[in-house]
Amino acid sequence: MKWLAASLALAGPSQAALRFACSTLSIQRLDPLVEPGRIPSSHLHQIVGGNAFNATMTGDIGEQGTCTTCTFSEDFSNYWTAVMFFKHPNGTFKRVPLMENAALPPGVNGGMTIYYTQQDFNSNGNQKITAFKPGFRMTVGNVNTNSLSAAQGHHGLRFVCLDNKNTRFPELPDFPTKPCKGGIMTVHHFPACWDGKNLDSPDHQSHMYNTAGEAFTPAGPCPATHPVRMPQVAYETLWDTTQFNNMWPEDGSNPFVLSFGDSEGYGTHADYVFGWKGDSLQRAMDSSCI
Ligand SMILES: *[C@@H]1O[C@H](CO)[C@@H](O)[C@H](O)[C@H]1NC(C)=O
Ligand SMILES: *[C@@H]1O[C@H](CO)[C@@H](O)[C@H](O)[C@H]1NC(C)=O
Repeated sequence: MKWLAASLALAGPSQAALRFACSTLSIQRLDPLVEPGRIPSSHLHQIVGGNAFNATMTGDIGEQGTCTTCTFSEDFSNYWTAVMFFKHPNGTFKRVPLMENAALPPGVNGGMTIYYTQQDFNSNGNQKITAFKPGFRMTVGNVNTNSLSAAQGHHGLRFVCLDNKNTRFPELPDFPTKPCKGGIMTVHHFPACWDGKNLDSPDHQSHMYNTAGEAFTPAGPCPATHPVRMPQVAYETLWDTTQFNNMWPEDGSNPFVLSFGDSEGYGTHADYVFGWKGDSLQRAMDSSCI
């Protein structure tokens, strides 16, 4: 039986994609990845996933976690982004509530939709996908990005002006410039090519390399410096901005701001700490369902 399982795992290409909801775990000024031990961190985050999350967490959080806000009970990873605020012309800020995505089971409280894809939504492709290792972490995007052209160059980091929860296009590199009937979605696609050595790097990014284009289109091949193809991780976050649509400033300027003071959206970014228990993510990637 053992022999059979091993030979099957070696034989076929990996064939699986996951999409699932994670409810809000916490909304906190904590950032164990970029600012470990700093309480409070420089800006506010909304965090989903496993309960091993804390200001100084290290090691295998898949083993430390005992419960999770994610649909898959073996996923104790943590996923987080900045938080969106509405700035009223009178100077008052109000945090924009999170809402559940479409096409997910009911019972989700705010949070995010998490994707681990291999190729796109039509096919799993036929490449071997190597799951992240315990202790793996990465970020995407940069709070210091301050020009439209730089934001356009970050293909995986986008805003969508929602008519309804199923709107997916057009993808914008920065905040919508008019009220959006169904809210605003932020999208964060992480790089999926790994250097094969480092679980993290000083800038939390250079151990990974991005070959993905816009939206969920198939990524290009990984370069020799980062040869290991990993799951394509993406977050969708739906912000319920609708209660503010009748308070849009008279001068037409965008009233929404990310929690690090960014009202253009150029510095949109996200953080990932791997925490699937044991080999559960690898088993999912080696299975054959979308
Ligand atoms: C935070 O998590 C680490 C392990 O990742 C643990 O050693 C530490 O005790 C935790 N700190 C608190 C305050 O719970
Ligand atoms: C600003 O306007 C909002 C919405 O009308 C109101 O709730 C808030 O109290 C106002 N703040 C100040 C400082 O006037």
